[in-house]
Amino acid sequence: MTAQLIDGNALSRQIRAEVAQRAAALTEGGHRPGLAVILVGENPASAVYVRNKVKACADAGLHSVLEKYEATMTEAELLARIDALNNDPTIHGILVQLPLPGHIDDHAVIEAISPLKDVDGFHVASAGALMVGETGFKACTPYGCMKMLESIGMKDLRGKHAVVIGRSNIVGKPMAMMLLAANATVTVCHSGTADLGHHTRQADVVVAAVGKRNVLTAEMVKPGAVVIDVGMNRNDEGKLCGDVDFDGVKEVASWITPVPGGVGPMTITMLLVNTIEAAERAAA
Ligand code: GUN
Repeated sequence: MTAQLIDGNALSRQIRAEVAQRAAALTEGGHRPGLAVILVGENPASAVYVRNKVKACADAGLHSVLEKYEATMTEAELLARIDALNNDPTIHGILVQLPLPGHIDDHAVIEAISPLKDVDGFHVASAGALMVGETGFKACTPYGCMKMLESIGMKDLRGKHAVVIGRSNIVGKPMAMMLLAANATVTVCHSGTADLGHHTRQADVVVAAVGKRNVLTAEMVKPGAVVIDVGMNRNDEGKLCGDVDFDGVKEVASWITPVPGGVGPMTITMLLVNTIEAAERAAA
């Protein structure tokens, strides 16, 4: 079997077109949706991500402000900026790009963002809302993975077994909660799991979110399974690759996400969706 691709670029285009329509309607009603993006320091990867986020806003008709600060910015200065943005009615979403310089406490910064503007979905209130099924903002990467499953007719996962590899606060844990909310039976595997293949071989859906190449290989996948690859790594030739051995696994899976062009573009797309959602809630 050769798996079909879940094309994150194509799905993103479709969702971003819907975002643009909602943005236009809000703007017409005098509530132009706005996102503030804060970058502290000179991390080159972060600079690229931030640029892509701001461009995506412009393309979809959202207002965005990019605030760039020196790596020497103090935590108190950053908290003061967040406080100002929390109280700025033209801003509906606030995103502080991580990682932050070592002298700034990520947790304190994330918790300072108003949960009403936490479009990254990283605030404890957002994580808690997801856990108990209340209204909040969903973390963008796992939210994008759910949209990819929905796009292949897997919105309801009743009777399906989903295995998540990775337990980070920004992907693995919220991913497990979203799969659970979609009625899947969920197993979370991680660095302390004894026999990863034993678990993944039973999965109808595998989500790999570890940040390490070849974590999932063909013999670890049940024929016909759906494989979502959140990884973003470089191979020996410096080419972008995921956590999944794509060439091997695509011969076993029914559907697979490529890297690049899979989950990556969906993360920014769901950031736009969350920002629109924040603006619609503020306008209501
Ligand atoms: N750094 C890497 N990914 C992300 C993300 O999704 N949001 C933020 N704020 N920082 C990141």
